[in-house]
Amino acid sequence: ASTAAVIPAAGRGVRLGPGAPKALRALNGTPMLIHAVRAMAASNAVSLVIVVAPPEGATEVKSMLDAHALPERTDFVVVPGGATRQESVKLGLDALPPGYETVLVHDAARPLVPVDTVDAVIDAVREGAPAVVPALPLADTVKEVAPATAPGAPEPVVATPDRARLRAVQTPQGFDRATLVRAHETVTNDVTDDASMVEQLGLRVVVVPGHEEAFKVTRPLDLVLAEAVLARRRL
Ligand code: CTP
Ligand code: MG
Repeated sequence: ASTAAVIPAAGRGVRLGPGAPKALRALNGTPMLIHAVRAMAASNAVSLVIVVAPPEGATEVKSMLDAHALPERTDFVVVPGGATRQESVKLGLDALPPGYETVLVHDAARPLVPVDTVDAVIDAVREGAPAVVPALPLADTVKEVAPATAPGAPEPVVATPDRARLRAVQTPQGFDRATLVRAHETVTNDVTDDASMVEQLGLRVVVVPGHEEAFKVTRPLDLVLAEAVLARRRL
C-alpha cells in the first residue's frame, strides 16, 4: 500500500513575529516548506505529498515547488488551507486520491525531521497501529497551573505530573487512512494534534522515538537553531 504525506503549511506564524507566513520563510536560503517537503519525499515509501498552503498563497506555493529540485518519483499536490491547523489537515485529506492507505501528517514548521524518524512512523503503521506519534521525553519539569485570581497576579500551581510518564509529541504522525478520515469527520472539539482525535475515537495510539532535529520552529530562537542544524549538515 502507498503512503502519502499531508503537510499543513497554512499558518501565519504569529509567534515567530512579523513577516511572511512561517512556512514560506527561508532557512539558509531555502523556504522552510521546501525543507519539510524534502524531508517527507526523502522516504522511499512516500509517493505523494499534499501541501496545504496559506489560503491566499496556493499559487505562490505551486511555483515555489516547481522552482526547487524535488525527487522525480514523488507527486505533489497543493491545496489552500483553513483558519485552524485542524481545518487545514482536513482540507488536505479531502484532496487525497484513492490508493493511499497510510497517511502521514507533518507540520511544515518541522523542516528538519530525519528520514529515519519518518520511516519508523510508517513502519509502525504498516505493522498494524492505527495511529503512531514520534515523541521524546521532556527535559523540563512541567506544572499544571490554574488561572491567576487577578490580572497580573502570579498563577497558582495545581499539580506536577510525573515527568517520566510524559512525552513531547512531534510529527510526522502516521495513520491508517480510514482511521484518520473518520477522526476528522467525527471529532469537532479543538485539538492540537491529529493523534488526539484518534484517541477520542477510543483507538490505540502508540509512540515511537522522536528526534531532537524534529523540533518545531515556533519562536525566533528556533530559527537560529534550525539554521545551525542545516549548517552542520552543509545544506
Ligand atoms: N497550520 C495550518 N493552518 C492553520 C494553522 C497552522 O496549516 N490555520 C500549520 C502551520 O503552517 C504549521 C503547523 O500547522 O506548519 C503547526 O502549527 P504552528 O507551529 O502553530 O504554526 P502557526 O500556526 O503558523 O504559528 P503560530 O501559532 O505561532 O501562529
Ligand atoms: Mg498555530
